[in-house]
Amino acid sequence: MRLAVNVDHIATLRNARKEQEPDPVTAAHLAELAGAAGIVCHLREDRRHIQDRDLRLLRQTVKTKLDLEMAATEEMLRIAIQTKPDLVTLVPERREELTTEGGLDVKAKRAALKPFIAELCRNGVPTSLFIEADEESVKIAADLGATHIELHTGLYSRLRKPDDIERELARLREAATLGRKLGLTVVAGHGLNYINIVPFASLSDVIEEVSIGHAIIARAALVGIERAVRDMIQLLK
Ligand code: PXP
Repeated sequence: MRLAVNVDHIATLRNARKEQEPDPVTAAHLAELAGAAGIVCHLREDRRHIQDRDLRLLRQTVKTKLDLEMAATEEMLRIAIQTKPDLVTLVPERREELTTEGGLDVKAKRAALKPFIAELCRNGVPTSLFIEADEESVKIAADLGATHIELHTGLYSRLRKPDDIERELARLREAATLGRKLGLTVVAGHGLNYINIVPFASLSDVIEEVSIGHAIIARAALVGIERAVRDMIQLLK
């Protein structure tokens, strides 16, 4: 299973002080040096983390694969066509949410999504749909012309009881298997961390890639503290 790293929260930290650092573009470069197979960023309507400048520079500097998460709006369509990421992942977006809360309601949004995906395709940009792991959503995603689906692992990531975890893994496996049968590239993400990724990796025969942000940026902050403090103490000597 390949790892794509979401760098949004490096930008969250930078924006908290309205400074230039830490820079998500530098973080993306280091993630690639460490072996990430792709870089993900979410340009939100309110620009709460990733900014237009970040996306421009990421497009110029990412050497693996740039996945732009965005809402299906006219503004984002224009930006995606200009920027030409390697993949657009369409996600639902609500202003008041802390992070993407659920999969896209592909059934309700079918009529709007079809021409949107076609327009991206005409401009050479493949589309992934962030969906719940159910049969109907997978079938609709294939019918809408998406090349990829990203299965929502938010529920999986919150489960604690072994039986519940097994059941959810089986549900994800079934949806991924169907997606592959329909010719889709199947990836997954949301809430995956250093603990729940271990059982999740048993799906590596049906899920090609995971997209992980928060857990990696959180660990980076902690494992980097000792070195950062020592470096500062050295300068004080
Ligand atoms: N995939 C999608 C579609 C997302 O919206 C997010 C959150 O930005 C992620 C994956 C990564 O989730 P997390 O930050 O919990 O790893």
